[in-house]
Amino acid sequence: MMCLLQQDQAGVLQQDQAGVLQQDRAGQETAEPWSSTTRLRPVARTGDVPLMDIVQRHGTPAYVMDETDVRERCRAFRAALPDADILYAAKAFLCRAMATWIRQEGLGLDVCSGGELAVARSAGFPAERIVFHGNAKTPRELLEAVEYGVGRIVVDNLAEITRLAALIPPGRRQQVLLRVVPDVEAGAHTAIRTGGEDQKFGLSIASGDAAEAVSRVLARPELRLVGLHCHLGSQIRAAEPYERAARVMVEQLAHVRDTYGIVLPQLDLGGGLGIAYLEDERGLTPEAFAGTVLKATRDRCAALDLPMPLLVIEPGRSISGPAGLTLYRVIAVKHTLTRTFVAVDGGMSDNPRPSLYGARYTARLVGRRSAAPARQVTLAGHHCEAGGVIAESVALPADVRPGDVVAVPATGAHHHSMASTYNLTGRPPVIAVADGAARVVVRREDIDDLLRRDVGL
Ligand SMILES: Cc1ncc(COP(=O)(O)O)c(C=O)c1O
Repeated sequence: MMCLLQQDQAGVLQQDQAGVLQQDRAGQETAEPWSSTTRLRPVARTGDVPLMDIVQRHGTPAYVMDETDVRERCRAFRAALPDADILYAAKAFLCRAMATWIRQEGLGLDVCSGGELAVARSAGFPAERIVFHGNAKTPRELLEAVEYGVGRIVVDNLAEITRLAALIPPGRRQQVLLRVVPDVEAGAHTAIRTGGEDQKFGLSIASGDAAEAVSRVLARPELRLVGLHCHLGSQIRAAEPYERAARVMVEQLAHVRDTYGIVLPQLDLGGGLGIAYLEDERGLTPEAFAGTVLKATRDRCAALDLPMPLLVIEPGRSISGPAGLTLYRVIAVKHTLTRTFVAVDGGMSDNPRPSLYGARYTARLVGRRSAAPARQVTLAGHHCEAGGVIAESVALPADVRPGDVVAVPATGAHHHSMASTYNLTGRPPVIAVADGAARVVVRREDIDDLLRRDVGL
């Protein structure tokens, strides 16, 4: 499918016949995959901050996070599922500012490591609103979770039950959810499909581990089983897999009720809602997700004579992903016999997704107007791997040159959080923008940071 938005000679958004541009309240145009306050003309800006101001003040590469967009997405989930417990999945992107926005918007937090827990803690995120995940939580992580008093811990394997129970101080009971495998395959890439039998997460229903875990948790007075959990995978752009998962999970709740006479009050269906990375893509909206999941859960509960459980969901990417963009400086333009490479000052260390999952991106020239026609180029990174490409077949003005700045949208999730220091490249800063103001919420990692860890000589 052709890209629906094209860059015209002046670097301006053009509306094609499919009419994907939407009018916002101010009568301005906004379109996926850009954040809701991003405008590409007359001057490219996000949160009313010109992107070139950010470049001038903070350099490149830089992640820009649109606070307004994050907050709007939290509110959209709350509006679509007013009775649900909505937890933001911190693995998508977490820093203290983000934790604060999430708390202020009334969402809870799903963390999956001691590091994520520590950031949440230092931002004052209320312990009871935190859910702790992980398929191989270390004893230390479990202890930290218990010491902070996190609301719920999601048990992922049988050994964890005894380990966790042993850590609970006398007189306390830890609420737990059990992660079970619904055997529903969904997700954009095998590496991020976690709902099927043949992967490392959760307790298999088919093997009997899930039933065994229920019986073991119920036998531990230190633990209180409050529900079942599943997570199908990530970047799921259709609601149908959630419908199947909801049915399987309600059947498991009924199985617990039939076996033990206990009605578990919570059903956590995880996250995974997909977003648009390209102009012709559409994400799974909270409304579409909610409509499908609520109906499937209600119908199955009614059929099995179960009360409607408290639904818990854990969206990550669909809250922070579209809110982010990355700014890069063009360093070199190279023409081979087959294509044009536009090489920039970042790449696989700030965005590993193309290398890991074959993820696709688009990009725009920002900061100057060009009268040149658009040309398909490969946006390459500066790391020492031929595969270190940010985006293939991106339409940029044919006169793109060293010194230009390009913006890559939809980089708010699984970018900063998955960034590395490959080639001893420091990680970019995160600049939060809102209402005309920009502030550094995570500073750039510099060579001193990198050298500080190198204690050998
Ligand atoms: C248990 C769990 N919940 C929620 C999420 C969030 O997924 P997404 O960011 O795709 O919404 C993940 C992602 O890996 C996960 O593992």
